[in-house]
Formats: sequence, structure tokens, C-alpha cells
Amino acid sequence: MAKSSAKSAAKSTVKGGAPAPTKAASVGGSMGINIGIHERDRAAIAAGLSRVLADTYTLYLTTHNFHWNVTGPMFNTLHTMFMTQYTELWMAVDPIAERIRSLGHPAPGSYAQFGRLASVADAPAVPPKALEMVRILVQGHEAVARTARSLFPLADKAGDEPTADLLTQRLTVHEQAAWMLRSLLEA
Ligand SMILES: [Fe+2]
Repeated sequence: MAKSSAKSAAKSTVKGGAPAPTKAASVGGSMGINIGIHERDRAAIAAGLSRVLADTYTLYLTTHNFHWNVTGPMFNTLHTMFMTQYTELWMAVDPIAERIRSLGHPAPGSYAQFGRLASVADAPAVPPKALEMVRILVQGHEAVARTARSLFPLADKAGDEPTADLLTQRLTVHEQAAWMLRSLLEA
């Protein structure tokens, strides 16, 4: 067997005439991504999912904060309800981040990044009254729903079913949570 140079290897073909694997898929020892979604769409979807992640994480933290700080006659109901909700939000951040990774992009994971990316406001420094907490959480769930919904057409157009599926699941959760919280505000 003759040694082949990189140049001749690049030009060579596999027996049968099929093109040989090119070097393009491998950079620095890692493989490129070829899942059938254009690089430009992967980047845009990953950017959108980063905003969903930042919103979800921020809402998680606010909900946990309110679980700790809620007071008043509805304490038991809200303390328990907020725990259910923050636990769900906490579980949700992982699949969102890992979808970003599957699309070939780094997942944001710092308070500075989340602060830049989130449309959901940080929790107030002074704990509000119980019903104001509920109002803030309704607005938070609605905000995450809007962020997720705004990304849906792009995921759909790019044929990114896993992201569309994830967004559908998140929309269901946020719209249901907003309804349940909103119901507490009715006289
Ligand atoms: Fe607790």
C-alpha cells in the first residue's frame, strides 16, 4: 500500500465511484453537524431557545423565591402551589438547554446571560403581598409563553420537530399555570 498524501486522499474516491469522506466534517477532532437543518436555522432556533431558557430559569427562581417568602391567609395553598410550579420549571430547563446543545450551540447558564436574554423581570427585592406574587407569576408564565410561541414558526419551517414538540409542551404548561394562577385573582 502506498502512503497517500492529504491532497491525494481528498481527491480519492471510494471503490464504486462514491466520493470519499471529506475532511470538512471534522475540525479539531470534533465532527460537524449534519441533521438536515440548515446551519443558519440551527443558529436562529438555538438563539430563540436561549431566550426560552432564560425566561424559564428566571421564572423558576421567582417562583421559588415566592415559595419562601409568601405570607398571609393563603400561605398553605400558595406555598404548596409555588413548590409544584418551581419544581416543574426546574425540570424544564434541562431539556431546553440540551436541545440547544443538540443544535450545535452553547447553552447559556449564568445570571449575566440570563439577565440579558430574559423577557421575564427579576423578582422584586422586597417580597410583595401574596396576591401581587400571583399577578407577577401570571405575567411571567404569559411572557414565557409569548417567547416560546414566537419561535414556533421558525422551528416549524425548518422541520425541527423536536424543538416544535418541546415548545408545544412548554406552551401547554405555561398557559395552564397562568390560568390556575389567574383563577386565584377572581373575586
Ligand atoms: Fe420548601
